[in-house]
Amino acid sequence: MNTKPIIFSGLQATGIPTLGSLLGAIRNWARLTTDYNCLYCVVDMHSMTIRQDPAALRNYSRMALAWFVALGLDPKECTLYFQSHVPAHAELAWILNCFTYVGELNRMTQFKDKSAKNEDNINAGLYTYPVLQAADILLYQANLVPVGEDQRQHLELCRDIAMRFNKIYGDIFTVPEAYIPPVGAKIMGLQNPEKKMSKSETENEGNLVSLSDTDSDIIKKFKRAVTDSDNEIRFAPEKPGISNLLTIYACATGKTIPESEAYFSGMGYGQLKMGVGEAVVAMLKPYRDTYDRLMADNAYLDSVITQGAQKARAMSEVTLKNVKQAIGYPMQPE
Ligand code: TRP
Repeated sequence: MNTKPIIFSGLQATGIPTLGSLLGAIRNWARLTTDYNCLYCVVDMHSMTIRQDPAALRNYSRMALAWFVALGLDPKECTLYFQSHVPAHAELAWILNCFTYVGELNRMTQFKDKSAKNEDNINAGLYTYPVLQAADILLYQANLVPVGEDQRQHLELCRDIAMRFNKIYGDIFTVPEAYIPPVGAKIMGLQNPEKKMSKSETENEGNLVSLSDTDSDIIKKFKRAVTDSDNEIRFAPEKPGISNLLTIYACATGKTIPESEAYFSGMGYGQLKMGVGEAVVAMLKPYRDTYDRLMADNAYLDSVITQGAQKARAMSEVTLKNVKQAIGYPMQPE
């Protein structure tokens, strides 16, 4: 019996993962697999809330799972799978929809943002997106959910739904908590260091580093990174560009921020940008080699996918069965 606390997190795979999701999320996920029973899910069902090209969705999903493994998530030590391979997510999401108020969904800032960006496709799935996310988490009785600041509101809603349900039916769900990793990093865009480095900020290609960029592209993007008009290399709120470069350097090398400041002291911005770019290229190299090997080994990747789905299905079915019994769905004759 595995009695470690349970961690659940999900990642949308609508493109190649970025340096931001590697340093901000996935590398931290890998640190948790010894102390927790971790499930990491490619949330392909969530991706359907925005129109997707079928071939691209399929490819990006598989690539994301290969990146998970390449970046150090060992499929023997955690559960890696596709959300669409586990029907319990959709089943529980429907039930939880009936315990979520439209007033609550109306308050979700991400829904408002995404609606503004996709005015011609404000679909019902986009609206109930946080309910599916709650189902993801509650199905596995997760104790902790590593998420970025932008997902806090969704997690609060998940907790409210769980408590509401438990109040009516007894202790069916574990009420999860957000997990903000002790050594977390929020990586900002290289062109717009006031905003998170994100695939949805596609206006400017140089803003993000994708894990499949060539070495020379990476160096080029860092060379063009936005800095500021003085020439002091220090970490400070009024210096978002320099602070972001120092954060990336610290993450890439394992140094602290003060050590990174000390390393660059006396150098110019040009040297800083070059130094960070080179550190990122060196850090990525072994991950990329592993990724290439994995993508060439279909049989192995297929076995990871199949086994992940089996483990997740077995865990999710326990909760789903309790829920169905509690709410009064008729029993299925054996
Ligand atoms: N909504 C999350 C994001 O965009 C992804 C996600 C889906 C998720 N289900 C989840 C994250 C469950 C944590 C737990 O980042």
